[in-house]
Amino acid sequence: MSRTTSFKLVLLGESAVGKSSLVLRFVRNEFSDFRESTIGAAFLTQTVELNETTSIKFEIWDTAGQERYKSLAPIYFRNSNAAVIVYDITQPPDTSFEKAKSWVKELQRQADPSIVIMLVGNKLDMESSRKTPRELGERFAEEEGLLFTEASAKSGDGVEELFMEIAKKLPLA
Ligand code: GTP
Ligand code: MG
Repeated sequence: MSRTTSFKLVLLGESAVGKSSLVLRFVRNEFSDFRESTIGAAFLTQTVELNETTSIKFEIWDTAGQERYKSLAPIYFRNSNAAVIVYDITQPPDTSFEKAKSWVKELQRQADPSIVIMLVGNKLDMESSRKTPRELGERFAEEEGLLFTEASAKSGDGVEELFMEIAKKLPLA
């Protein structure tokens, strides 16, 4: 018998970077090339086994990245134990990567100080169109004490792993 501990996780980042796609890959192992932009926010859950005795239930708020929903974000990140901040590696760094950095700063100001933050460069399957170098993400994450990875919701590369890495950092009672 394993014990389940629940944690709240929020996804943040510019519209179309692939937040919903990462969550749907993780929760349902699905991907669509034609995903509709999220309205408001979506709630999903997924449970993973950390080891023989412990399971982690993620209660996930997948927020909408469009500017008009920006003021809602604090409702979702305020009580979160973990945040996944996503950018698109095929965009130049002054766009979605810059936006990801500003989300990190906002969480550092307003979220629970113990929140576990994971920075994710998504769309790794499009390496040939890369415009944000891996090192930029790596360096920023190191400076700010964040977890960091690159992943692809489309291929599934790194998706399960990123949630497992977060699970390992969460405080178990
Ligand atoms: P909002 O809900 O508007 O904030 O956007 P989002 O961040 O949830 O993005 P969404 O998951 O809707 O994905 C946007 C587009 O990018 C969709 O057309 C997806 O199919 C595509 N996409 C998402 N992840 C990947 C990926 O890893 N690789 C590729 N090639 N396309 C992706
Ligand atoms: Mg979405």
